[in-house]
Amino acid sequence: MIHLKSKDEIERIRASCRIAADAMVLVQDALVPGVTTAALDEIADNYIRSQGGVASALGYRGFPRSICVSINEVVVHGIPGPRQLLAGDILSVDIAVAKDGYHGDMNVSFAIGTIDADAARLIQATRQAMEIGLQASQPGARMGDVGAGIQQRVEAEGFSVVRDFCGHGIGRAFHEEPQVLHFGTAGTGRRLEPGTVFTVEPMINAGVPEVRILDDQWTAVTADGLLSTQFEHTVAVTEYGPDILSRFADLPF
Ligand code: MF3
Ligand code: CO
Repeated sequence: MIHLKSKDEIERIRASCRIAADAMVLVQDALVPGVTTAALDEIADNYIRSQGGVASALGYRGFPRSICVSINEVVVHGIPGPRQLLAGDILSVDIAVAKDGYHGDMNVSFAIGTIDADAARLIQATRQAMEIGLQASQPGARMGDVGAGIQQRVEAEGFSVVRDFCGHGIGRAFHEEPQVLHFGTAGTGRRLEPGTVFTVEPMINAGVPEVRILDDQWTAVTADGLLSTQFEHTVAVTEYGPDILSRFADLPF
């Protein structure tokens, strides 16, 4: 069952998103070659705690750290550790925060130093695909409209949509209904009602869509070893259209 959120609940989700977005700025400021992903995790975790929040990922199904860091061929759920960033890497950073009983979730992909043109095109297409998915999140539209828009944008570029992970409803729980597929058929699926809050978080691969999970049981990598990238926002469907709860006028995400 989808729990429709009141205006007050939506504002609490936005407040958690604000902490996540400010933590993202701090992480972005620390992105220089040589920094470890564990250091990025610590920066985010310290900031989130300073704001009275907790990282939603920490301890979630046993996840050992506070943020996810997914470099190059890592699709999602990379665990922060001793890996140092190198010029030419692409890094997706996933930050989710719980405060006052509500979660907010976002993900941004960054280029470290100069990256090659195809990697830049992948990042650009993924960002635009997420944007299309967010804009499709209109009252009365259908879930399939969100996925179809994303899929079309990405496949037009010769890239592929990961099928094994999806977006999700969010609120009192980190993951709740509905599931948000990043592919599909326009005009099909559940109708979007005002008060529905979910994430749009396409994971887009340069090559094949298949993934493989490493022995740590978390890190998902592309089956062909080619690049993958992701963007995510939390969005509320309102009677006036999509309200992107993790986007703020003073921040670049
Ligand atoms: N944004 C990702 C998701 O919604 C973050 C996962 S956190 C983890 O699934 F703990 F599950 F890794
Ligand atoms: Co998410």
